[in-house]
Amino acid sequence: MKILITGGAGFIGSNFIRYILKTHPDHRVVNLDALTYAGNLENLRAVAEAEGGGPRARYQFVKGDIREVKLVDRIVADGVEAIINFAAESHVDRSIDNAGIFIETNVLGTQVLLDAALRHQVQRYVQISTDEVYGSLGPTGKFTESTPIAPNSPYSASKAGADLLVRSYYETFKLPALITRCSNNYGPYQFPEKLIPLFITNALSDQHLPLYGDGLNVRDWIHVEDHCAAIDCVLHRGTPGEVYNIGGNCEKTNREITRIILQELDKPESLIRFVKDRPGHDRRYAIDSTKIMRELGWAQNYNFQTGMQETVTWYSHNREWWTRVKSGEYRDFYQRWYGNR
Ligand code: NAD
Ligand code: TYD
Repeated sequence: MKILITGGAGFIGSNFIRYILKTHPDHRVVNLDALTYAGNLENLRAVAEAEGGGPRARYQFVKGDIREVKLVDRIVADGVEAIINFAAESHVDRSIDNAGIFIETNVLGTQVLLDAALRHQVQRYVQISTDEVYGSLGPTGKFTESTPIAPNSPYSASKAGADLLVRSYYETFKLPALITRCSNNYGPYQFPEKLIPLFITNALSDQHLPLYGDGLNVRDWIHVEDHCAAIDCVLHRGTPGEVYNIGGNCEKTNREITRIILQELDKPESLIRFVKDRPGHDRRYAIDSTKIMRELGWAQNYNFQTGMQETVTWYSHNREWWTRVKSGEYRDFYQRWYGNR
């Protein structure tokens, strides 16, 4: 199967590319990524070295924007059988700062991909969405696939808009489209602006850990590789037109996460700084994954404690990666790697 993966140079996309090439020797991947601040080809250096180059390569990278109609059309026309759309502006705080690019990429970009999928009769279109489209939960209950959509941030509103477009292409045109809604991911290669990698890297540098509000907001954490395995199930066995929730069954307050990181690194609690809350800050997310477990046979592999230990160790051992990412220096890699090809 030839798969177009968009946003493959980001956190989840790069983990997914490694996962799918390892688990499906018969699959080929085209990675279309605009390399925004969050995209980093260093995440895929080993893949490019092992699988890239030559006409029979299983991995190909194209630098480009999902909003570029002609570029997307040309790529999809060249034998693409499935599209998985990871490309997005993904950080809630940035969406509060400036919402425009979120609508551009997350909504308009999705429409460009859907049109190309339709034109070239792609067999599968998988939209990587988020549990944040459901809004915020009270102290009890979990999000199911029939929970009404009620996004609270410009980020989650743009993801919800994209989900509705995907739904409409299934209903109107019978495009074989599926949607996944996953909870908060953690693991290697996550951009250090999100809670876990930000706090690990700040703690490693003895810098403050800025906890929003009272630090008691709850997220349902899942290891990125378990998310990748779930997307694999949906790609191969999911029913078109359906939504699949994916969760870690692992609710933690931000204070708990912070304490785990400080303990793992043997750093003092005095590094914590309580700072002004995020506006519209969702209080609690929790996902009910019964549907994907029952219907597609997905199950989690990671236990949170060992997953977090591995993750903290990964950031401790890959200081060069995050130091470069934090300084923006990783962009040089692109020039070095592709500049003369
Ligand atoms: P990320 O920010 O790490 O990566 C996004 C990638 O998309 C980057 O490589 C970036 O260069 C690329 N991109 C951005 N705009 C583009 C454009 N216009 N054209 C082409 N490429 C573009 O994000 P992530 O955390 O890996 O998230 C991937 C997807 O999963 C997103 O759609 C996000 O909404 C969803 N999601 C994330 C989480 C999470 O916890 N991180 C949870 C659930 C769902
Ligand atoms: P984040 O990683 O941005 O994911 P999301 O907002 O999409 O769930 O944030 C996770 C939680 O951590 C969220 O409740 C906000 C909180 N948070 C902080 O307290 N301080 C920070 O510096 C960041 C980035 C997040």
